[in-house]
Amino acid sequence: MRKPVIAIDGYSSTGKSSISKIIAHKLGLVHLDTGALYRGITYFALNNCLGEDGKINLEELFMRFNEIQLEFKPIDTELVMFLNGQDISTEIRTNEISQNVSLIASQKEVRDFLLDAQREMAKKGGVIMDGRDIGTVILPKADFKFFLTASVEERTKRRFLELRSLGFETDENTVRENLISRDKTDSERAVAPLKKAEDAIVIDNSNFTKNQTIDLILSHLTYF
Ligand code: C5P
Repeated sequence: MRKPVIAIDGYSSTGKSSISKIIAHKLGLVHLDTGALYRGITYFALNNCLGEDGKINLEELFMRFNEIQLEFKPIDTELVMFLNGQDISTEIRTNEISQNVSLIASQKEVRDFLLDAQREMAKKGGVIMDGRDIGTVILPKADFKFFLTASVEERTKRRFLELRSLGFETDENTVRENLISRDKTDSERAVAPLKKAEDAIVIDNSNFTKNQTIDLILSHLTYF
């Protein structure tokens, strides 16, 4: 039997990636965290395409796409993000990346650049992909679609703890402001905005543990 394609979209810090990773492990699927791709491009831009004003020069970034090779490499049981052969999995989690990524992700050129690669990764099935536009644009024919949401307070707490566990100094206010601003930019952009697919199952996990959310998703995956 062909393995399923599962799309998990939703707001920032609703646990999409960590939940998808565990479900992938349980069901023998490949997990693709598409946010890491946008973060990888942002990392490249901040390191290579700054204008004299200290801001990212988008035109320069678009001209240099051919210098960007993003890859997920399997290391232990995880897929780790590499940019041009360098492991950037920790670097892409900084506040600086989080504060710039939504601008980068709102560019049509960037989304076009990443579109085919994402579809190609899901072609053979057996994939759980998380992001913002997976159920609506990247994989509209996914077998199962979920849309995760949670209160801003709960999401702030989760992201703050995640960043601290990675060794980053930050405070809850900075984290909260960033979540709110990213959700706004992601929802309002013209190209592939963050939006629930019509046929997606909505899960508000404000009062759920990670395991409860996982169990709820698994309960919907009927033909396993
Ligand atoms: O999932 P994560 O929080 O790492 O995503 C970082 C950013 O990448 C999001 O805020 C959004 O701007 C962008 N993104 C996107 N489409 C996706 C995945 C992420 O626009 N499918």
